[in-house]
Amino acid sequence: MALSVIILAAGQGTRMHSDMPKVLQPLAGRPLLAHVLDTAEALSPSAIHVVYGYGGDAVPEALPEYDVRWVLQAEQLGTGHAVSQAMPAVADEDTVLILCGDVPLVQAATLTALVSAADGGMSVLTVVLDEPTGYGRIVRDDAGEVARIVEEKEADEQVRAIREVNTGLVACPAGRLRQWLAHVSNDNAQGEYYLTDAIALATDAAVSVRAVVVSDQDEVMGVNDKKQLAAAEAATRARKAEELMLGGVTIADPARIDIRGTLLCGSDVFIDVDTVFEGEVKLGDRVRIGPFTLIKDAEIAAGTEVLSHTAIDTAVVGPGCRIGPFARIRPQTRLEKDVRVGNFVEMKKSHIADGSKVNHLSYIGDSTIGKGVNVGAGTITCNYDGTNKYQTHIGDGAFIGSGTQLVAPVEIGANAVIGAGSTITSNAPGDELTVARARQTVVKDWKKPKKVKSEK
Ligand code: UD1
Ligand code: CA
Repeated sequence: MALSVIILAAGQGTRMHSDMPKVLQPLAGRPLLAHVLDTAEALSPSAIHVVYGYGGDAVPEALPEYDVRWVLQAEQLGTGHAVSQAMPAVADEDTVLILCGDVPLVQAATLTALVSAADGGMSVLTVVLDEPTGYGRIVRDDAGEVARIVEEKEADEQVRAIREVNTGLVACPAGRLRQWLAHVSNDNAQGEYYLTDAIALATDAAVSVRAVVVSDQDEVMGVNDKKQLAAAEAATRARKAEELMLGGVTIADPARIDIRGTLLCGSDVFIDVDTVFEGEVKLGDRVRIGPFTLIKDAEIAAGTEVLSHTAIDTAVVGPGCRIGPFARIRPQTRLEKDVRVGNFVEMKKSHIADGSKVNHLSYIGDSTIGKGVNVGAGTITCNYDGTNKYQTHIGDGAFIGSGTQLVAPVEIGANAVIGAGSTITSNAPGDELTVARARQTVVKDWKKPKKVKSEK
């Protein structure tokens, strides 16, 4: 049996009040639709068809990495009409699984259960909600079988009282679906072709419709507005934090960590409150992440401690380092073992070898710093002449006095000492003291200026 997945993603999402198509709104740092596509791919279907429309090419262009068939629904005439757009490329023998681009948290195991429940007939994923407003209601017959789905706008008071609702996710044989879709009309309150009308057509044709009832409400939450988007974000956060905690990570407060991508952790990792992880982040054993930190696309090795208010972006940090508080590590920076980076230090495109320290108020850009170097407070690598960027190299064991400007390109030899306040414009030899500043003098005959009386 071949499985064809159809994902409905053409709607504007009016309730988002945004110019961005709804399915591109970010959840955990990625478009809603990407979450649905990942889950669909996990089922290894023979094809994935995505019906897009609002926002035009913006939707396919935002997700070029997926191998899917993009189907344009030029006018959004309803969910039934949307499915019809994809059907010409689906063979009668296939089983069709219909997903919604705005139901992002559904799990692959649930979908597998839904597909096997169809079993030649139709299956609908449903959920019982305390607050069913807005959803299509599942109307069952006297025998308890699903008879039809009634949309909120078509429902009378009695039907509105039903708390079992349609999640929008359906599985059924393609051949039959094609026939039913041909008979769905738009004679209803919204003037739309409802996919949900296919359910009544199935039961009329004596095809069994099985409801698969999900117990976890979050899993099938529809994201239609910013409030639901925030709720989905909170659910994702809780799910990821739980996985990490069950894997042994200590999280100070699981409600105050944001993981917008993947976070892999070794053993005995500690993560404090208000921490944001983006992209791919790897933390080694015993790493400690302080409060109010942002870590993006980074690898941090065993035993390293990141102190509060530190931002690390696209960097590799070796073991036993201490970074922050208030440090900023920018892309293409690599810190080796036991490096210290202190407060108000910015680093970019630099390589710092074992045991070196840049502890206070510095800018280190386009630089290589050897082993055991001490960079004094307020040292700046002047890497930019207004047009081009240049390199600074500091040899092993060098000592750079506080308040030094290293005007690149420049090289400081191994074990060199640079006097505080120097402006170094040419290479400094190793093992020597280099000082580049005016000698201190006491100015002769200097008088304190007198206050000039202003004329009235
Ligand atoms: C739909 C269901 C409702 C269910 C709810 C669950 C119908 C008629 N209603 O309602 O029973 O309880 O989902 O979340 O199916 N779309 C298109 N083209 C269109 C219209 C919609 O691609 O012409 C897409 C949307 O982008 C969205 C999905 O289909 O991803 C659902 O559409 P939406 O308008 O959100 O339907 P609901 O009112 O939520
Ligand atoms: Ca919806």
